[in-house]
Amino acid sequence: MRAMARESFLTPANLVLPLFLREGRGERTPIASMPGQARLSVDLAVELAREAHELGVSAVDLFPALSDDVKDPRGSESTNPEGLMQRAIRALKRELPELMVCTDVALDPYSSDGHDGVVIDGRIDNDVTLPILAAMAVSHAEAGADVVAPSDMMDGRVRAIREALDDAGHTQVSILSYCVKYASAFYGPFREALDSAPKSGDKKTYQMDPANLREVEREVRLDEAEGADILMVKPGLPYADVIRRVRELTTLPVAVYHVSGEYSMLKVAAERGFLDYERCLMESLMCLRRAGADVIFTYGALDAARLLAARK
Ligand code: PBG
Repeated sequence: MRAMARESFLTPANLVLPLFLREGRGERTPIASMPGQARLSVDLAVELAREAHELGVSAVDLFPALSDDVKDPRGSESTNPEGLMQRAIRALKRELPELMVCTDVALDPYSSDGHDGVVIDGRIDNDVTLPILAAMAVSHAEAGADVVAPSDMMDGRVRAIREALDDAGHTQVSILSYCVKYASAFYGPFREALDSAPKSGDKKTYQMDPANLREVEREVRLDEAEGADILMVKPGLPYADVIRRVRELTTLPVAVYHVSGEYSMLKVAAERGFLDYERCLMESLMCLRRAGADVIFTYGALDAARLLAARK
């Protein structure tokens, strides 16, 4: 009776696995703030992606961890055709052509200031940042990315990226927009993973106020009009009402990012014996589906896909 009356379902196809990249071969650097996660060299990232693909996970989402000597105020490494990101995209599409490759588009991994946009006189300059983001997206598309995911929260970047992609002949590359992204402390562990914490100030001039819900409609309308293909809400569980709101406002697919802090809370509580990680992960993911998410980005994607496969 319980199975018959069930309202929401979770399948591996709903999941996207974020991967942190590093230079080298056969290299795996564990991330202390995110137990079970590591920065991987491209060869090991391909192996993990292969397992995810075989289990039915839809996509990987790539983040490069770069050394300080390639970072500068304008993030010029982000468009290097031989950059870590571009090499990883090419390797994944060569080895696993059927696995979707999604790439994070923002300046923070490449910026000596650690911000998602260009910092000029202590302020984030929205409009100076737009062509840089657009060039980054084109560079990812050139390397073979299927989906570019701008996470920077600059105004007008979806249109700038869409026009640049189309002009470069990449009309088939999709834009997954971080449409509703809050200025959240739940990103804490991620900034250690990428060593990308802002050098000064915070991200509150471009990320949203956690107190706001009315603003969501404005963000959705803008990104739809600018040509987004998928809209993301971030973080996940504390913002379930926001996911529901976006689901009701748009007919586009809705994605959610179950972020680093949400993942690490479960892992660390489980390590101390206070929570059952697997059950709490599956419950969290189901709640995100129930709230209205079609797609879930989660560091638990492999764990969840393995559990779903074992249930069959
Ligand atoms: C930055 C970016 C962040 C995340 C994804 N892209 C961090 C931030 O905005 O500071 C967070 C992901 C996570 O916490 O898991 N472009």
